[in-house]
Amino acid sequence: MVKICCIGAGYVGGPTMAVIALKCPSVQVAVVDIAQKRIEAWNSDKLPIYEPGLDDVVKQCRGKNLFFSTEVEKHVAEADIVFVSVNTPTKTTGLGAGKAADLTYWESAARMIADVSKSSKIVVEKSTVPVKTAEAIEKILTHNSKGIKFQILSNPEFLAEGTAIQDLFNPDRVLIGGRETPEGQNAIKALKDVYAHWVPEDRILTTNLWSAELSKLAANAFLAQRISSVNAMSALCEATGANVIEVSYAVGKDTRIGPKFLNASVGFGGSCFQKDILNLVYICECNGLPEVAEYWKQVIKINDYQKNRFVNRVVASMFNTVAKKKIAILGFAFKKDTGDTRETPAIDVCKGLLGDKAELSIYDPQVTEDQIHKDLALSKFDWDHPLHLQPMSASSSTEKQVTVVGDAYEAAKGAHGLCIMTEWDEFKTLDYKKIFDNMQKPAFVFDGRNVVNADQLREIGFIVFSIGKPLDAWLKDMPAVA
Ligand code: UDX
Ligand code: ADP
Repeated sequence: MVKICCIGAGYVGGPTMAVIALKCPSVQVAVVDIAQKRIEAWNSDKLPIYEPGLDDVVKQCRGKNLFFSTEVEKHVAEADIVFVSVNTPTKTTGLGAGKAADLTYWESAARMIADVSKSSKIVVEKSTVPVKTAEAIEKILTHNSKGIKFQILSNPEFLAEGTAIQDLFNPDRVLIGGRETPEGQNAIKALKDVYAHWVPEDRILTTNLWSAELSKLAANAFLAQRISSVNAMSALCEATGANVIEVSYAVGKDTRIGPKFLNASVGFGGSCFQKDILNLVYICECNGLPEVAEYWKQVIKINDYQKNRFVNRVVASMFNTVAKKKIAILGFAFKKDTGDTRETPAIDVCKGLLGDKAELSIYDPQVTEDQIHKDLALSKFDWDHPLHLQPMSASSSTEKQVTVVGDAYEAAKGAHGLCIMTEWDEFKTLDYKKIFDNMQKPAFVFDGRNVVNADQLREIGFIVFSIGKPLDAWLKDMPAVA
């Protein structure tokens, strides 16, 4: 029986291993993590991450061929294939700070694998890592191996949160990169055999190590670039009276471009896009390619600009001040159907409004109060942000400006404005008449995700701002200069 162990029970490791266990009953899968609470949650009825369809998959295999454990070393020692999906945040200090990936967790995982292994193993890179990480990991393993043979593979994850289970069941492609030696090719075949249980062979692509690593960064950079491109257009639409929905529809109808990932928004978030592009930028700089680095950096700059622009719209519409005004924030997660808040645009928008002394009442169906407070208190490393988006230090006064509430109506009660930060389905069908009646007047809606029917809201009496759509007369009179 093939034994798989995955180090890191997070957004990637958890769902990926659950699906492997479901689709390969003959494979035994152990997911291990040093975070005891996380493992306890994986073994309970309330899983540590919210992902549609995940509960079902876990219930079907847990205790049969899927196990969650804190006994990291034991399971690594027993495994034939070890996936590493530990966190790889952006470095905040030292060489490459703000851009390079912090490989501390990766390195300690690799050293541990070398320490505890008594048999040959295939080690699979699953977390997003900079190109050439595999080479570094290979060095750590071979220099500490006591004669045991390790093969390194790169098997980047392309699942998107919120649709992870669907993406894993039916992937566009599975990418496996390995050494071009006979041993490397055997390792590739062993991993391919696992995926072949449910993925058609023509969708399993095999490449060399560097191509696989770079493809992940490239795919995410291309996707993020589309969003920054359409977001840049959204600003121009607002200035000219064009409608970004119509423009993106027309553009997406060109089969060479295609319709996906052209929704203008308040900005992209998530654990991958910004991190991967920063990685790409750093790699380009290190390889003496400053023009290429600058090109990709611009994708992030437009994303910052878009969040910045949104804050300016809110403040400008309310007579240039939101001090002591209650603003409702609907949605805090970086997109719908997840409770994940990593790099969510809501953080920067809330910080911008707090900087202008607004009082925020925040509601998200999946994000906990504790998480929201943590996110708003944390000062992240800002490599190049506009000054007024600079993180504020965790002060008790900020804490007092923020309340987290249990539903959208409570959030909006007595508020001057309402900002939609995440495209949760429930925000489309709220009783906006009821919300309007309980708000201060004039009552504003700032739709950062283009989810509401602006015309209906205007009939109720709202002043509405929708990203990239023709502006209300009110907003035209109060221009928000970024
Ligand atoms: C992404 C990639 O899609 C996935 O392949 C990779 O493995 C990890 O990174 P994820 O971060 O989970 O996945 O979410 P994704 O659906 O890509 O959305 C990223 C951000 O872009 C979200 O904040 C989303 O709201 C935003 N977005 C997406 C837009 O603003 N407009 C769009 O048209 C699409
Ligand atoms: P991702 O979104 O990439 O899955 P997460 O942060 O959700 O990232 O998950 C990474 C997990 O890896 C965390 O739960 C963390 O505790 C775990 N982890 C980090 N280092 C180690 C290690 N050396 N051994 C075991 N688990 C680790």
